[in-house]
Amino acid sequence: MDVLQAIFTRRSIRKFTGEPISNENMETLLRAGFSAPSAHNMQPWHFVVLKNPATLEYIAEAHPYAKMLPQAGCCIIVCGDEEVQKTKGLMVQDCSAAIQNILLAAHGIGLGAVWCGLYPAPELTKLLSVTIKLPEKIEPIGMIVVGHKTEDRATAERYDSGKIHYDQW
Ligand SMILES: Cc1cc2nc3c(=O)[nH]c(=O)nc-3n(C[C@H](O)[C@H](O)[C@H](O)COP(=O)(O)O)c2cc1C
Repeated sequence: MDVLQAIFTRRSIRKFTGEPISNENMETLLRAGFSAPSAHNMQPWHFVVLKNPATLEYIAEAHPYAKMLPQAGCCIIVCGDEEVQKTKGLMVQDCSAAIQNILLAAHGIGLGAVWCGLYPAPELTKLLSVTIKLPEKIEPIGMIVVGHKTEDRATAERYDSGKIHYDQW
């Protein structure tokens, strides 16, 4: 898929078949994450792929907006290393860029995906840190629920000339 087509047609997908993602597709998604820009090129990210059904059920029960997780059968937790990117705001932006890359890659190869928030909700970052045994210096930033989709969503037109400012506000 052409990059602009992917950007313009990507939507959050929350309905899945449950069919597992191939290893080849997962590698493509992870490669997309690793290809993101990062401040000073520090690449502070780590990616934790979760497929264990009991773990997915446990997270979905605790997370108020991730009930689709067990049905998808897979998620990628994008985490940041606070010792690698020491300015928190930069680390969060770096990881967010990786998340968006993965969302676009998933769409580009015909999978469905949705970004489920973790950071900065302390109850959710704590839940993930404990559940997936993250080291102290590693913070979970976002969760990408990804799988084979059963829905296609219409393109959203959000262009708003009223929010564009030239030379000054
Ligand atoms: C930081 C962030 C956190 C989000 N958290 C959730 C979430 O927990 N659950 C969910 O279903 N969608 C979540 N979303 C997806 C948004 O609801 C979605 O992107 C928005 O409604 C626009 O729809 P679209 O992605 O289809 O364009 C999140 C998106 C972002 C950027």
